[in-house]
Amino acid sequence: PASDPALVERARRAKAALGERLFVLGHHYQRDEVIQFADVTGDSFKLAREAAARPDAEFIVFCGVHFMAESADILTADSQRVVLPDLAAGCSMADMARLAQVEDAWDVLADAGVADVTVPVTYMNSSADIKAFCGRHDGVVCTSSNAKSVLEWAFRRGEKVLFLPDQHLGRNTAVLDLGLGLDDCVVFDPHRPGGGLTPEQLRAATVILWKGHCSVHGRFTLDAVHDVRRRVPGVQVLVHPECQHEVVLAADLVGSTEFIIKTVEQAPAGSSWAIGTELNLVQRLARAHPEQSITFLEQHVCYCATMNRIDLPHLVWTLENLAAGQVVNQITVDRETERFALAALQRMLELPG
Ligand code: 13P
Ligand code: SF4
Repeated sequence: PASDPALVERARRAKAALGERLFVLGHHYQRDEVIQFADVTGDSFKLAREAAARPDAEFIVFCGVHFMAESADILTADSQRVVLPDLAAGCSMADMARLAQVEDAWDVLADAGVADVTVPVTYMNSSADIKAFCGRHDGVVCTSSNAKSVLEWAFRRGEKVLFLPDQHLGRNTAVLDLGLGLDDCVVFDPHRPGGGLTPEQLRAATVILWKGHCSVHGRFTLDAVHDVRRRVPGVQVLVHPECQHEVVLAADLVGSTEFIIKTVEQAPAGSSWAIGTELNLVQRLARAHPEQSITFLEQHVCYCATMNRIDLPHLVWTLENLAAGQVVNQITVDRETERFALAALQRMLELPG
């Protein structure tokens, strides 16, 4: 549906009033009505870099989810304010790894005698205290754009990796990019004693995957891949690495949201795609590329509900408050957490590729 013109005008006016004091970041999964006000759009890697590169902006309004706004707060100066237009915009995957659970898991690894040789790696989609845990234990953050180079870095530092919180990104990267076997990976279930693993299994594993997943990407199925290939001859299946391993294996191409966009942008007219990622992005790509045929990989997968919480009314409310001198919905990470999370983020940002 088209955005309400009165709200569009209010957002425009408040943004203009704030001028250079404001910088708006928009993740690719945001609604059209919001993304039109983003100064920069990107995947979580690009947005983390963009936040760090705006030292002059007094206010960073993050149109995305909570863990992204936390990362922006960590990467920006103390004087800069990071604002999330709706505080309920969380991420179910990030919520699947709590600090107390991860600390308990580390104790299990220590009891099995493997903590000393394990490097903790957390996907960007995790809370600041999980990133800080990784920072404290000489670990690192990765995103879906750089998981391969981050894991290679980790394996130069240790013999094993504890990968948090997305088992699918961890498995897909370990097997498809690093050439490890499925048998080299085990899944640590925080809801079972000892993670549901024996000390022998932990000692034999190369990658210890946290039992977390994305509730959106986890719904794409192998059947959907087969089905679209039957329905659309010549279709190329393009999916995000948060999808299940069997889906990624059956796809033609896999990559982050930024990769998905570039792939479609660079494809010749007449190309045909079935895309397995969040629906706002797929619909926007289909509209931007009428010269190509773009379909959504699965009929039963919908928007990311928490990304969608950021809508135009919330954005207008945020911008008008900022313009009136009232900072609302500020995201702040405490100094101690920030110090260690920054170490893990900086290790990632310093890696090439
Ligand atoms: P990125 O491709 O930006 O890593 O996005 C994945 C995602 O699910 C963000 O929440
Ligand atoms: Fe979290 Fe998945 Fe939504 Fe991304 S798409 S914010 S990983 S639930």
